[in-house]
Amino acid sequence: MRDVTVDPAGLEPIETASRDELTALQLGRLKWTLEHAYRNVPHYRQAFDAAGVHPDDCRDLADLAKFPFTTKDDLRRQYPFGMFAVPRERVVRVHASSGTTGKPTVVGYTQRDIDTWADLMARSIRASGGRPGDIVHVAYGYGLFTGGLGAHYGAERLGCTVVPVSGGMTERQVMLIRDFRPDIIMVTPSYLLAIVDEMARQGLDPRESALQIGILGAEPWTNDMRAEIESRLDMHAVDIYGLSEVMGPGVANECVETKDGLHIWEDHFYPEVIDPATGVPVPDGEPGELVFTSLTKEAMPVIRYRTRDLTRLLPGTARTMRRMEKVTGRSDDMMIVRGVNVFPTQIEELLLRIPALAPHFQCVLSRRDRLDTLTVLAERRPETPEDVALDAGTTLGAMVKSTIGVTVEVRVLDPGGVERSAGKMRRVVDERQ
Ligand code: DLL
Repeated sequence: MRDVTVDPAGLEPIETASRDELTALQLGRLKWTLEHAYRNVPHYRQAFDAAGVHPDDCRDLADLAKFPFTTKDDLRRQYPFGMFAVPRERVVRVHASSGTTGKPTVVGYTQRDIDTWADLMARSIRASGGRPGDIVHVAYGYGLFTGGLGAHYGAERLGCTVVPVSGGMTERQVMLIRDFRPDIIMVTPSYLLAIVDEMARQGLDPRESALQIGILGAEPWTNDMRAEIESRLDMHAVDIYGLSEVMGPGVANECVETKDGLHIWEDHFYPEVIDPATGVPVPDGEPGELVFTSLTKEAMPVIRYRTRDLTRLLPGTARTMRRMEKVTGRSDDMMIVRGVNVFPTQIEELLLRIPALAPHFQCVLSRRDRLDTLTVLAERRPETPEDVALDAGTTLGAMVKSTIGVTVEVRVLDPGGVERSAGKMRRVVDERQ
């Protein structure tokens, strides 16, 4: 694995600035953002007026809590361009995130926003251990999804050689990784596993690939999954987080030398964690829903955007900026099975402790005799005999019962039996409607 010792001289000054310097910068930028949003976006003007607040009421970072939240529904109601704070002609790019229902959420960028994004993605790749001159295989989807183009511009900005493969065509992914010998792969963790399986199917040893670093995100994944990926590929696996409404990938990224949660690039995004039921901010260290306010965005500032992602804020370690713990799940991914809250990441953690099972899984919710039933679809590893796999399924069911407290049915399928995705994996299938 690549030696990832960090030379502090190679970091941007703000990454190691004092907390005071950072908060002073944040406050100045926050005031600008509130003013910009209020002046130029009718939605924010109405929302602030209705809440009885004005940008001038923000004298301190804590004053942000007086301002109203923004939700995905707010953005949807302004479809397509109603949230833009600059004339449409100044918007050089749009992206969109496809919701499961109805219209997508559209986001826009000025040239300066695109530049900031490229800078932050370059910072993220560097934090992951990447360097100028590296070959970067981008297997995030290109298109309206922010993953592909976000990674692409950042890798170019850092001075890397980009291979813009996009998602899908797994055999070809393997061929390009073998022939081009990339140092870095940027991809969802679940699709990376599909690529690794394809390598094995072709008789290649994934540990022999040139890959040194995986920059993995766009969906929740656990530290147990990190261990699985790092050992199967003999490379560093680092977490990257972001969402299109706030920018795209590169809102927060782990540092490869610590791998202890994701540093939020706080000079551009102000984080809060709130109690999702009451909306009241909780102190750092307490779990809750992550909320972001952009600090420099021109085309589409967001004020207190509710991400639905569950995590907690932790103090800085490798950088001054605070960390967010690995996201445990989205509030809308939470399954309530006979009164018990269950997240797919909890199942993932247990499943990865059973060597006979492959790291692929899906949760299926159904209703039988008016009772909700959770079925976990797992998969045996190719080298696991069927009878051993059956026992492994029973073991998993018992582990889920004893640690999470719900009864689940585990079905262990043959290799390849669990659905694969070239992008974000659909972990929960709800068949109850
Ligand atoms: O997924 C942006 C992205 C692309 C991030 C590539 C990282 C890498 P959206 O499609 O708008 O944007 O989805 C955002 O994905 O609110 C989280 O629920 C989830 N998500 C993103 N990164 C992570 C992560 C992109 N590292 C939504 N861990 C977010 C857990 C993540 N969940």
